[in-house]
Amino acid sequence: MKSFISLSVLMAAASLVSAVPVLNARDSCPINALSCSTTTADTCCSPKYGLVLLVQQWVKNYGPADAFTLHGLWPDTCSGGQTGSSGCDSTRTYANVGTILKSGNPTLYSSMNTYWPSYNDDNNVFWTHEWGKHGTCVTTLDPACFGTEYTKYDDMYGYFDKVLSLRQEYDLYKIFSDAGITPGGSYNATAMVAAIENALGVSAKLTCSSGTLSEIWLYFYVKGTSDYILTDSIASNTCSGTVKYPAKY
Ligand SMILES: *[C@@H]1O[C@H](CO)[C@@H](O)[C@H](O)[C@H]1NC(C)=O
Repeated sequence: MKSFISLSVLMAAASLVSAVPVLNARDSCPINALSCSTTTADTCCSPKYGLVLLVQQWVKNYGPADAFTLHGLWPDTCSGGQTGSSGCDSTRTYANVGTILKSGNPTLYSSMNTYWPSYNDDNNVFWTHEWGKHGTCVTTLDPACFGTEYTKYDDMYGYFDKVLSLRQEYDLYKIFSDAGITPGGSYNATAMVAAIENALGVSAKLTCSSGTLSEIWLYFYVKGTSDYILTDSIASNTCSGTVKYPAKY
């Protein structure tokens, strides 16, 4: 049953790719430009907020027992500054994102329900917030970059799709379990950081709440418009000593 579910999720992800146009316009973009070190000033070619944080969370009772779920993907300034609570484009801070997804892109909606659940039980509010505050700050997804190739909500679908695929690519549950770190145990914070460093070659930021693992942040620069390249965390862990990694269910 479990493998059936993950196969259908994979098939859903594959069909999604063809449903969403490749938002990679601008033939003239230098494809190797790296965000934060590039000289291109064209924010359609290279993201203006070029240090990007993928934040995965571990929350009891939410999401698959064997997967971290998503908090979000946050484009930050190159020095790690945040973009602000109201996002970057008020004309695209769509209301009721859950409703839009459910009718406009049910496949994506289904993956979001699985891998991006709110721990307050209101996915619509959570996704609306993450899109408005963070998604609108991905300057390479600005509709103005695509002209007539743009269909309403492509920017938002493209953002969510990218975040889901990064979560799948950087599967922290698997990285931990390959290192003998499995839910239900307590582990040295140093060993948890080392497991990620051994697998990915970069340091991650771990966050804890009352000694229990809550989030893991991975940092990226962006090559070209949408090729995410891992880089070391620039922030300190809030986990130290022995960390609880509870079973979800
Ligand atoms: C965690 O591991 C580090 C490095 O091996 C070690 O120095 C430290 O004493 C350990 N901490 C705990 C709480 O076991």
